[in-house]
Amino acid sequence: MAQALDACGSGELWEFGAGSGALAEQLLASLGETVTRYTIVDLSGSLRERQRERLAAFGDRVQWANELPASITGVVVGNEVLDAMPVQLLHFDGLQWFERGVVVQGDAFAWADRPTELRPPVAGPFVPGTVTEIHPQARAFIATLAGTLTRGAAFFIDYGFPEAEYWHPQRRGGTLMCHRVHRSDDDPLADVGEKDITAHVDFTGIALAAQDAGLDVIGYTTQARFLMNAASSRCCRVPTFAPSPIRRNC
Ligand SMILES: C[S@@+](CC[C@H](N)C(=O)[O-])C[C@H]1O[C@@H](n2cnc3c(N)ncnc32)[C@H](O)[C@@H]1O
Repeated sequence: MAQALDACGSGELWEFGAGSGALAEQLLASLGETVTRYTIVDLSGSLRERQRERLAAFGDRVQWANELPASITGVVVGNEVLDAMPVQLLHFDGLQWFERGVVVQGDAFAWADRPTELRPPVAGPFVPGTVTEIHPQARAFIATLAGTLTRGAAFFIDYGFPEAEYWHPQRRGGTLMCHRVHRSDDDPLADVGEKDITAHVDFTGIALAAQDAGLDVIGYTTQARFLMNAASSRCCRVPTFAPSPIRRNC
């Protein structure tokens, strides 16, 4: 973050989806006065109150925004926010594709399929019975962000895969899952409203959406490699060269 702020000549950090405020607290504490303003954008009103309490020590350098400004110069970070964005579920029965939705049956919810023109971004092959996801909202978010990022960089840390792994024929159940008090399950229709629902990120789709909207993709790596690189080398810099465009299937 410090390198990226330095490279773009700004003290502005923006965090999308700050949750408990844990990342914000660590960034503000470790970056010190380098950060002149830390702006949080989060959908959850109750989490905003938790963030306010946790970050009170940093005074009015921390702000909250309800909408994007016309222009951002600075660094944007999102940790586990792309995986919280809604996805659309698709089901392939071996012959055709269906969009999977939810219907009310008495007091309960149930899945319901209807034929759709929607498709995963790769051609397959797909095994009959495959249920998977597509991520139009996350892609739209990146495109909107690209429109406001005048000079700077955006870092997204998350669970996910490149598309060749995401839509690998063996991943026939998709990645949608729920978390609640350190337990996970795969049934979003149980305990509705009590659980976090998440789906992995299609990093190829995110990179392509960013690129299509005018951003350069400067890198993609696992957290393990990122940390080893950061720990073993002080010469790991935000690149100043023009990165080569990414293509489908890479
Ligand atoms: C797992 S938490 C993030 C944890 C936090 N980034 C950290 O590292 O400490 C996910 C957060 O994303 C927020 N969120 C979900 N969808 C969002 C959206 N479309 N825009 C902004 N925030 C969103 C949720 O309210 C929640 O605060």
